Amino acid sequence: MRPVAVDRVRITILVDNYYDVLLPSTDHVKRVGPGQTKKPLMAGHGYSLFVEVFEGNNSANMLVDFCHSPVVLLNNMESLGIDPDSVEVAFLTHGHYDHFGGLVGFARARSKPVTVYLHPDAFYPKFVVTPAGRRGPWQLNRSECEDAGVLFSEVNMPSVVNNYFLISGEIERTTDFEKPWQAARVIKGEREVLDLFIDEQAVGILVKDRGLVVLSGCSHPGIVNIVRHMHNITGERILCVIGGFHWSILPDEVVEKSLDALLELDPELVVPCHCTGFRPSCMAAGKLGSRFAVSSVGSRIEF
Ligand SMILES: [Fe+2]
Ligand SMILES: [Fe+2]
Repeated sequence: MRPVAVDRVRITILVDNYYDVLLPSTDHVKRVGPGQTKKPLMAGHGYSLFVEVFEGNNSANMLVDFCHSPVVLLNNMESLGIDPDSVEVAFLTHGHYDHFGGLVGFARARSKPVTVYLHPDAFYPKFVVTPAGRRGPWQLNRSECEDAGVLFSEVNMPSVVNNYFLISGEIERTTDFEKPWQAARVIKGEREVLDLFIDEQAVGILVKDRGLVVLSGCSHPGIVNIVRHMHNITGERILCVIGGFHWSILPDEVVEKSLDALLELDPELVVPCHCTGFRPSCMAAGKLGSRFAVSSVGSRIEF
Protein backbone atom coordinates (compact mmCIF):
# COMPACT_ATOMS: atom_id res chain seq x y z
CA MET A 1 0.00 0.00 0.00
CA ARG A 2 1.28 3.44 -0.91
CA PRO A 3 0.12 6.98 -0.14
CA VAL A 4 0.23 9.62 -2.90
CA ALA A 5 3.84 10.80 -3.20
CA VAL A 6 4.51 14.42 -2.26
CA ASP A 7 6.93 16.97 -3.69
CA ARG A 8 7.85 18.22 -0.24
CA VAL A 9 7.29 17.41 3.42
CA ARG A 10 7.94 19.51 6.49
CA ILE A 11 7.79 18.02 9.99
CA THR A 12 7.79 20.46 12.90
CA ILE A 13 8.78 19.09 16.29
CA LEU A 14 6.04 20.80 18.29
CA VAL A 15 6.78 19.20 21.66
CA ASP A 16 9.67 17.05 22.79
CA ASN A 17 11.81 16.50 25.89
CA TYR A 18 14.67 18.65 24.63
CA TYR A 19 15.13 22.24 23.46
CA ASP A 20 18.39 23.91 22.44
CA VAL A 21 18.35 27.36 20.83
CA LEU A 22 22.00 27.21 19.80
CA LEU A 23 21.85 24.28 17.37
CA PRO A 24 22.92 25.16 13.82
CA SER A 25 20.60 24.44 10.88
CA THR A 26 21.56 21.92 8.21
CA ASP A 27 20.22 21.16 4.73
CA HIS A 28 17.29 19.15 6.06
CA VAL A 29 16.92 20.36 9.66
CA LYS A 30 16.01 24.01 10.25
CA ARG A 31 16.53 25.16 13.84
CA VAL A 32 14.78 27.91 15.78
CA GLY A 33 17.30 30.42 17.08
CA PRO A 34 16.97 32.88 19.95
CA GLY A 35 14.29 35.55 19.46
CA GLN A 36 12.73 33.86 16.42
CA THR A 37 9.44 32.87 18.04
CA LYS A 38 6.42 34.86 19.22
CA LYS A 39 6.88 33.54 22.76
CA PRO A 40 9.26 31.10 24.45
CA LEU A 41 9.02 27.45 23.43
CA MET A 42 8.60 24.81 26.12
CA ALA A 43 10.06 21.32 26.36
CA GLY A 44 8.62 18.52 28.49
CA HIS A 45 8.18 14.76 28.74
CA GLY A 46 5.81 14.57 25.82
CA TYR A 47 5.74 14.34 22.07
CA SER A 48 3.87 16.06 19.26
CA LEU A 49 4.67 16.61 15.58
CA PHE A 50 3.00 18.86 12.99
CA VAL A 51 3.35 17.39 9.50
CA GLU A 52 2.77 19.43 6.33
CA VAL A 53 2.92 18.01 2.80
CA PHE A 54 2.92 19.74 -0.56
CA GLU A 55 2.14 18.21 -3.95
CA GLY A 56 1.66 20.42 -6.99
CA ASN A 57 -0.98 22.96 -5.99
CA ASN A 58 -2.23 20.77 -3.17
CA SER A 59 -1.23 20.72 0.44
CA ALA A 60 -2.36 18.85 3.56
CA ASN A 61 -1.39 18.54 7.19
CA MET A 62 -1.65 16.16 10.13
CA LEU A 63 -1.01 16.59 13.85
CA VAL A 64 0.70 13.49 15.25
CA ASP A 65 0.24 13.13 19.04
CA PHE A 66 -0.74 15.79 21.56
CA CYS A 67 2.09 15.60 24.15
CA HIS A 68 1.50 15.42 27.90
CA SER A 69 -0.18 18.77 28.50
CA PRO A 70 -2.34 21.31 26.65
CA VAL A 71 -0.33 24.07 28.36
CA VAL A 72 2.80 23.04 26.47
CA LEU A 73 1.07 22.03 23.23
CA LEU A 74 -0.95 25.24 22.85
CA ASN A 75 1.98 27.42 23.97
CA ASN A 76 4.25 25.92 21.31
CA MET A 77 1.58 26.08 18.60
CA GLU A 78 1.12 29.78 19.31
CA SER A 79 4.85 30.33 19.52
CA LEU A 80 5.41 28.71 16.10
CA GLY A 81 2.38 30.36 14.48
CA ILE A 82 0.26 27.20 14.08
CA ASP A 83 -3.46 27.94 14.55
CA PRO A 84 -5.25 24.94 16.18
CA ASP A 85 -8.05 25.44 13.65
CA SER A 86 -5.58 24.98 10.77
CA VAL A 87 -5.02 21.30 11.72
CA GLU A 88 -6.86 19.19 9.12
CA VAL A 89 -6.59 15.75 10.67
CA ALA A 90 -4.87 14.17 13.67
CA PHE A 91 -3.41 10.83 14.70
CA LEU A 92 -2.57 9.27 18.08
CA THR A 93 0.34 6.82 17.96
CA HIS A 94 -0.62 4.90 21.15
CA GLY A 95 -2.50 5.20 24.40
CA HIS A 96 0.13 6.72 26.69
CA TYR A 97 -0.62 9.97 28.56
CA ASP A 98 2.53 11.73 27.32
CA HIS A 99 1.03 11.46 23.81
CA PHE A 100 -2.69 12.12 24.46
CA GLY A 101 -2.45 14.51 27.46
CA GLY A 102 -2.99 17.66 25.40
CA LEU A 103 -5.83 16.29 23.26
CA VAL A 104 -8.85 17.64 25.16
CA GLY A 105 -7.29 21.09 25.53
CA PHE A 106 -6.35 21.12 21.84
CA ALA A 107 -9.90 20.15 20.81
CA ARG A 108 -11.36 22.85 23.06
CA ALA A 109 -9.05 25.45 21.53
CA ARG A 110 -10.65 24.84 18.11
CA SER A 111 -13.86 26.25 16.70
CA LYS A 112 -14.70 23.01 14.88
CA PRO A 113 -14.42 19.24 15.48
CA VAL A 114 -11.21 17.34 14.74
CA THR A 115 -10.92 13.76 13.50
CA VAL A 116 -8.35 11.70 15.41
CA TYR A 117 -7.23 8.34 13.99
CA LEU A 118 -6.07 5.74 16.50
CA HIS A 119 -6.03 2.02 17.25
CA PRO A 120 -9.06 0.90 19.31
CA ASP A 121 -6.78 -0.60 22.00
CA ALA A 122 -5.43 2.90 22.74
CA PHE A 123 -8.49 3.36 24.99
CA TYR A 124 -7.43 0.68 27.51
CA PRO A 125 -6.01 1.97 30.83
CA LYS A 126 -2.25 1.51 31.02
CA PHE A 127 0.23 1.61 33.87
CA VAL A 128 3.89 0.92 34.59
CA VAL A 129 5.42 -1.22 37.35
CA THR A 130 8.58 0.44 38.70
CA PRO A 131 10.92 -0.60 41.56
CA ALA A 132 9.20 2.17 43.54
CA GLY A 133 5.70 0.82 42.81
CA ARG A 134 2.93 1.25 40.25
CA ARG A 135 2.71 4.43 38.21
CA GLY A 136 -0.64 5.20 36.65
CA PRO A 137 -3.03 3.99 35.40
CA TRP A 138 -3.64 6.52 32.67
CA GLN A 139 -6.55 6.28 30.28
CA LEU A 140 -7.73 8.22 27.28
CA ASN A 141 -11.21 9.39 28.27
CA ARG A 142 -13.38 8.87 25.20
CA SER A 143 -16.46 10.80 26.37
CA GLU A 144 -14.43 13.78 27.64
CA CYS A 145 -12.64 13.95 24.28
CA GLU A 146 -15.87 13.63 22.31
CA ASP A 147 -17.53 16.34 24.42
CA ALA A 148 -14.57 18.59 23.50
CA GLY A 149 -15.12 17.98 19.76
CA VAL A 150 -12.99 14.93 18.96
CA LEU A 151 -14.31 12.53 16.30
CA PHE A 152 -12.46 9.25 16.82
CA SER A 153 -11.79 7.06 13.78
CA GLU A 154 -10.46 3.64 14.74
CA VAL A 155 -7.91 1.96 12.50
CA ASN A 156 -5.82 -1.20 12.89
CA MET A 157 -4.86 -2.02 9.28
CA PRO A 158 -2.55 -0.18 6.88
CA SER A 159 -4.61 2.79 5.69
CA VAL A 160 -4.09 6.01 3.78
CA VAL A 161 -5.64 9.13 5.32
CA ASN A 162 -6.24 12.30 3.27
CA ASN A 163 -4.27 10.86 0.30
CA TYR A 164 -0.82 11.48 1.77
CA PHE A 165 -0.61 9.96 5.25
CA LEU A 166 -0.01 6.22 5.55
CA ILE A 167 -1.04 4.73 8.90
CA SER A 168 0.94 1.56 9.52
CA GLY A 169 -1.70 -0.76 10.95
CA GLU A 170 -0.51 -3.19 13.63
CA ILE A 171 3.26 -3.59 13.53
CA GLU A 172 4.64 -6.97 12.52
CA ARG A 173 7.34 -8.09 14.99
CA THR A 174 10.27 -9.47 12.97
CA THR A 175 13.40 -8.84 15.07
CA ASP A 176 14.59 -11.19 17.81
CA PHE A 177 16.23 -8.45 19.87
CA GLU A 178 13.31 -6.01 20.33
CA LYS A 179 11.50 -7.54 23.30
CA PRO A 180 8.34 -6.42 25.15
CA TRP A 181 8.85 -3.81 27.87
CA GLN A 182 8.41 -5.88 31.03
CA ALA A 183 7.29 -2.94 33.20
CA ALA A 184 4.36 -2.00 30.95
CA ARG A 185 0.85 -3.20 31.78
CA VAL A 186 -2.57 -2.79 30.24
CA ILE A 187 -5.89 -3.32 32.01
CA LYS A 188 -8.41 -5.28 29.94
CA GLY A 189 -11.62 -5.77 31.90
CA GLU A 190 -10.67 -7.50 35.15
CA ARG A 191 -7.24 -8.53 33.90
CA GLU A 192 -3.93 -6.71 34.22
CA VAL A 193 -1.59 -8.08 31.54
CA LEU A 194 1.79 -7.31 29.99
CA ASP A 195 1.30 -4.50 27.47
CA LEU A 196 2.48 -5.71 24.06
CA PHE A 197 1.49 -2.35 22.53
CA ILE A 198 -0.75 -3.78 19.84
CA ASP A 199 -2.18 -0.24 19.77
CA GLU A 200 1.04 1.47 18.69
CA GLN A 201 1.09 2.55 15.05
CA ALA A 202 3.32 4.82 12.94
CA VAL A 203 2.83 7.23 10.04
CA GLY A 204 4.62 7.26 6.68
CA ILE A 205 4.92 10.01 4.08
CA LEU A 206 6.26 9.17 0.64
CA VAL A 207 8.49 11.81 -0.96
CA LYS A 208 8.75 11.63 -4.75
CA ASP A 209 11.98 10.02 -5.97
CA ARG A 210 13.38 10.00 -2.42
CA GLY A 211 11.56 7.47 -0.28
CA LEU A 212 9.54 7.09 2.86
CA VAL A 213 9.65 9.31 5.96
CA VAL A 214 8.65 7.24 9.00
CA LEU A 215 7.20 8.96 12.07
CA SER A 216 6.97 6.93 15.24
CA GLY A 217 5.67 7.71 18.75
CA CYS A 218 7.44 5.76 21.53
CA SER A 219 8.35 2.75 19.34
CA HIS A 220 7.35 0.27 22.06
CA PRO A 221 7.03 -2.46 19.33
CA GLY A 222 10.69 -1.69 18.43
CA ILE A 223 11.81 1.00 16.00
CA VAL A 224 13.45 -1.58 13.73
CA ASN A 225 10.22 -3.61 13.60
CA ILE A 226 8.35 -0.41 12.79
CA VAL A 227 10.67 0.76 10.02
CA ARG A 228 10.91 -2.70 8.46
CA HIS A 229 7.11 -2.96 8.57
CA MET A 230 6.74 0.38 6.79
CA HIS A 231 9.28 -0.71 4.19
CA ASN A 232 7.50 -4.06 3.71
CA ILE A 233 3.99 -2.64 3.26
CA THR A 234 5.10 0.04 0.76
CA GLY A 235 8.11 -1.53 -0.96
CA GLU A 236 9.76 1.89 -0.69
CA ARG A 237 13.24 2.75 0.51
CA ILE A 238 13.53 4.52 3.85
CA LEU A 239 14.46 8.19 3.61
CA CYS A 240 14.13 9.38 7.19
CA VAL A 241 13.15 8.05 10.63
CA ILE A 242 11.85 10.37 13.35
CA GLY A 243 10.57 9.12 16.69
CA GLY A 244 10.96 8.28 20.30
CA PHE A 245 12.90 5.01 20.26
CA HIS A 246 12.45 4.07 23.95
CA TRP A 247 16.04 2.91 24.27
CA SER A 248 16.82 4.55 27.64
CA ILE A 249 15.97 1.36 29.55
CA LEU A 250 17.82 -1.03 27.23
CA PRO A 251 21.32 -2.55 27.53
CA ASP A 252 23.91 -1.11 25.16
CA GLU A 253 24.09 -4.38 23.14
CA VAL A 254 20.43 -4.05 22.12
CA VAL A 255 20.88 -0.39 21.18
CA GLU A 256 23.92 -1.40 19.07
CA LYS A 257 21.92 -4.12 17.31
CA SER A 258 19.07 -1.69 16.66
CA LEU A 259 21.45 0.91 15.22
CA ASP A 260 23.08 -1.72 12.98
CA ALA A 261 19.65 -2.83 11.75
CA LEU A 262 18.60 0.76 11.08
CA LEU A 263 21.80 1.34 9.11
CA GLU A 264 21.01 -1.71 6.97
CA LEU A 265 17.84 0.11 5.90
CA ASP A 266 20.07 2.97 4.75
CA PRO A 267 18.08 6.05 5.87
CA GLU A 268 19.49 9.47 4.98
CA LEU A 269 18.47 10.94 8.32
CA VAL A 270 17.58 9.55 11.76
CA VAL A 271 16.18 11.85 14.47
CA PRO A 272 15.87 10.09 17.85
CA CYS A 273 13.42 12.02 20.04
CA HIS A 274 11.50 11.96 23.31
CA CYS A 275 12.09 8.63 25.13
CA THR A 276 15.26 7.57 23.27
CA GLY A 277 17.44 8.51 26.25
CA PHE A 278 20.69 10.46 26.56
CA ARG A 279 23.20 7.59 26.41
CA PRO A 280 21.50 5.80 23.49
CA SER A 281 21.25 9.14 21.65
CA CYS A 282 25.00 9.61 22.11
CA MET A 283 25.55 6.08 20.78
CA ALA A 284 23.33 6.89 17.79
CA ALA A 285 25.27 10.10 17.13
CA GLY A 286 28.54 8.13 17.14
CA LYS A 287 27.30 5.30 14.96
CA LEU A 288 25.16 7.25 12.47
CA GLY A 289 27.51 10.19 11.96
CA SER A 290 26.10 12.64 9.39
CA ARG A 291 22.85 10.65 9.22
CA PHE A 292 22.07 11.67 12.83
CA ALA A 293 20.30 14.84 13.95
CA VAL A 294 19.45 15.69 17.53
CA SER A 295 15.81 16.53 18.18
CA SER A 296 14.89 19.95 19.55
CA VAL A 297 11.53 21.64 20.05
CA GLY A 298 10.64 23.91 17.13
CA SER A 299 13.03 22.26 14.66
CA ARG A 300 11.66 21.68 11.17
CA ILE A 301 12.77 18.65 9.19
CA GLU A 302 12.30 19.12 5.46
CA PHE A 303 12.67 16.95 2.39
FE1 LIG B 1 6.17 8.49 25.15
FE1 LIG C 1 4.75 5.32 25.28
